[in-house]
Amino acid sequence: MTPLIPKPRKRDDPGPGDVSAPGKGASESPGGASAALAPEPQNPAPVPDINELDVPAELEDQIRASMAKYPQVRSASIPALWAVQRMYGYCTPEGISQAAAVMEVTPGYLQSVASFYDLFHLEPRGSHEILVCTNISCWLRGADDILGEFLDASDSIRSTRTEGTPGGSAGEAEQPPDLISVSGFECLGACDIAPMASVDERYFGPLGPGDAATIASQLTSGEDVLPAKRLADRKAAGAADQGTAS
Ligand code: FES
Repeated sequence: MTPLIPKPRKRDDPGPGDVSAPGKGASESPGGASAALAPEPQNPAPVPDINELDVPAELEDQIRASMAKYPQVRSASIPALWAVQRMYGYCTPEGISQAAAVMEVTPGYLQSVASFYDLFHLEPRGSHEILVCTNISCWLRGADDILGEFLDASDSIRSTRTEGTPGGSAGEAEQPPDLISVSGFECLGACDIAPMASVDERYFGPLGPGDAATIASQLTSGEDVLPAKRLADRKAAGAADQGTAS
């Protein structure tokens, strides 16, 4: 994982977003002392020309709407990457280039932002995303076991799908994409329902033995996931007769 705290920049360091700026941070005399101190990046990708890319109109609209909310275009990087991830399932190189073209920044800049945050993915993920909180409140209440059960369920589904695929486990290219991606995660901010997990951005808890297998089975069959343990359906504290938590 990338470091949580960005490295301090040197005075002449143009930063990741400016890697395409020719000559920026380097000496005008090639090979001079300053050039040795601030070497040019290797083959930086330039800002893509939007006219040369097939940017989906929906994606461009979403990114431009985000850009309009900020005085600095780079402030829209996270919503732009989110839009890319929603459209393609993860931050594909093509999607990052398309977003970079709309924003008129380098793909390297957006790549550096995407690689910094856990919730952006630079590789394909399963159709369903499960994040199991393993932080202190959940850990004290058995999160490690819950995570283990989710991983077992995911492995079981993967092996079943692989067996049913022509070529079986022999050919990786033949394997279908994972149905479920499971990750341990730091506190998800719902400690009162520990141990808990996020399933496709919806919170569930407190989870117990067998719940992981049930959730995996429900996701596989397209059923409603654990309605009785969905945070959104719990009564709000102090408002037992006034609706549910949001
Ligand atoms: S410790 Fe698990 S949600 Fe906070």
